[in-house]
Amino acid sequence: MIISKDRNCWIIEMAGSAYGFGVTDEGQVVHQYWGKRLPYAEDYPGIIAVRDADSFNMAENRRREEFPAMEGSRYFEPAIALVFADGVRDLRLRFESCVVDQTGMAIQVKLVDRQYPVCVKLIYRAHSKYDLLERWVEVENHGDFPIEISRIFSADWQIPRLDDYWMSFFTGKWSDEFQNHRERITGGKKVLEGRRMTTGHDGNPWFAFYDGTASLETGRVWFGTLAWSGNWKTIAELTQNGFLQVLSGINDWDFVWQLGAGEKFGTPHAIAGFSTAGFSGASRAMHDFIRAERLPHGEAVRKVLYNSWEATTFDVDVDSQIRLAEIAADLGVELFVLDDGWFHGRINDTAGLGDWWADEVKFPNGLTPLIEAVNHLGMDFGLWIEPEMVNPDSELFRTHPEWVIQFKGRTKSTARGQYILNMGRQDVQDYLILLLDNLLAGHNIRFVKWDMNRNPSEPGWEDAPGDPREIWVRYVYGLNRVWGELHDRHPEIVFQSCSGGGGRVNLSVLDYADQFWASDNTDATARLKIQEGFLQMFPASTMESWVTDQGENLIPLAFRFHTSMCGVLGVGGNIGKWTEEQLSEARKWIAVYKDYRHIIHWGDRHVLYSALKGTVSAVLYVDKDKDCGVLFAFRTYESEPVALPKIFLHGLDAERRYKVGDRVMSGAAWEECGLEIALGNFESQMIIVKALDW
Ligand code: DGJ
Repeated sequence: MIISKDRNCWIIEMAGSAYGFGVTDEGQVVHQYWGKRLPYAEDYPGIIAVRDADSFNMAENRRREEFPAMEGSRYFEPAIALVFADGVRDLRLRFESCVVDQTGMAIQVKLVDRQYPVCVKLIYRAHSKYDLLERWVEVENHGDFPIEISRIFSADWQIPRLDDYWMSFFTGKWSDEFQNHRERITGGKKVLEGRRMTTGHDGNPWFAFYDGTASLETGRVWFGTLAWSGNWKTIAELTQNGFLQVLSGINDWDFVWQLGAGEKFGTPHAIAGFSTAGFSGASRAMHDFIRAERLPHGEAVRKVLYNSWEATTFDVDVDSQIRLAEIAADLGVELFVLDDGWFHGRINDTAGLGDWWADEVKFPNGLTPLIEAVNHLGMDFGLWIEPEMVNPDSELFRTHPEWVIQFKGRTKSTARGQYILNMGRQDVQDYLILLLDNLLAGHNIRFVKWDMNRNPSEPGWEDAPGDPREIWVRYVYGLNRVWGELHDRHPEIVFQSCSGGGGRVNLSVLDYADQFWASDNTDATARLKIQEGFLQMFPASTMESWVTDQGENLIPLAFRFHTSMCGVLGVGGNIGKWTEEQLSEARKWIAVYKDYRHIIHWGDRHVLYSALKGTVSAVLYVDKDKDCGVLFAFRTYESEPVALPKIFLHGLDAERRYKVGDRVMSGAAWEECGLEIALGNFESQMIIVKALDW
């Protein structure tokens, strides 16, 4: 509920937290509060007047504004910078009005520059039960001349004053995504960014701040992310005044947007929250929010999938795929996915991208015979596509060489033998919508894996509708249009977002897709860390994870299954070569998983022992009623002799009694006294924790 403390202050109160801002006498909108919800409105701090400190530090450099513009003598990073037609680059945003909507959970603050015809709207929407606040900004040009936007973030999050500031964030690379780091911020700036026209493997807009004492389950954590599939930037700046501001939004690198007379520009949405239950608390808030509010298929059962990529790569045809499908169906697989290699001319990775119809040699009668066989075996059928790409050796490129991203007259670089289509172009979008809509409408396809296997180079656009640098943003608009249109026309299809693994993992994709392919690295030991990072941000129901043959000589099948059972289980090994013994073990784990997947996907996740600490890790999923939990524990390699850590169980009802193995104790006792789990090298266990009264 949004309450107005005084005439000039607004407090957004959520279930357990609150966020407040107010207007100074001069009209600046300043941040006042972000933390625990307080009992009385008068408890929240009021406006603090800020004056010039000395001739080097004018007032605007010392104020904590909600959305600081490039103005006067301000030296810290501004959230917005404009260039007016007369060359003026000074923007003085002042309060004009504030409107709370009918739900009482959204508020819009209108700011204007009193000399120039520009209006900036700060929009906030509270997701109260998750203690999450969504924010974005709209700029309107009310004048007759264009305005150049040279930077515009979605939010400037002000972290309250702490004794010490620590940041948690992700870096990575292809096959090694979501590596979590914690770093002390002592001054200056920490900048994380994506410049790859997509989120990238090398980082993620997710961030968290704390005072250095928060743990997995305890302590105060301020966290957030950005719903945007393009270039992004996070700047955490500890100013000389000792306050930490966190800018989150579209990357201003090589960015410009020409805002014509009468036009409006809206930023992507930023979302942030406050948790008093440490990092797991922060992730549970995001998980609950995503599952309830963002997934196209809500809580529908996530099917066990088989994907033939690692088994057959480009070497696919009707017969070999039907043979794999028969084995998969016998294992209990519910969805059979044909990956790369199926379309016109796709003999290897140098040809075919762009020509999205079945290859005439591999599938002489089209895809239907395979789809019918898969359906006959009781499984759904899924298909891989990579719509944004084109190979030089393709019908599409031969017809439309001008459609790829390029600078006129300059070399065009290929990567993996392919170019990127300029998704900003309407003709490209229209073509893809038509072609892919026909493909989906003409076949019984229930799942689509949408891939993107390279990042851009030479980002030119000869006949761009605005400044050619707008390509970074217009590409994302085009991608969203094509994907959104296909999703709207085929709502029954479950989409999976993939970009060579986890290269496009962000909230906005979940407008169309229900899940992500988190990494091309399917080695179960490497995956433990990758998955822990991914699951900090996104729920298990969005993380596809395959059991493959990677590391098969070292890592037992049970370990590989347990790792993949921590998300949406899939099988990606060459099951045609598995022994009877392996197949029967696989059958067993798939059946067990089906009994418990509702807890893994829709329950609460508690990291009991982090994979970042070393060789042992453990995670517990507990259903929302705290009746039953599923615990997975892993040990990779550690030379003997070794003392294994005790695992302390979180998330159970303190008073109720739970059975683990032969032992019965209260939830409180399992948390205090813990559990010893025997694990040898490369061993894992799946342990069911059941309430006695259930
Ligand atoms: C990259 C994906 O991450 C893989 O799973 C597979 O689909 C290949 N592309 C196919 O080219």
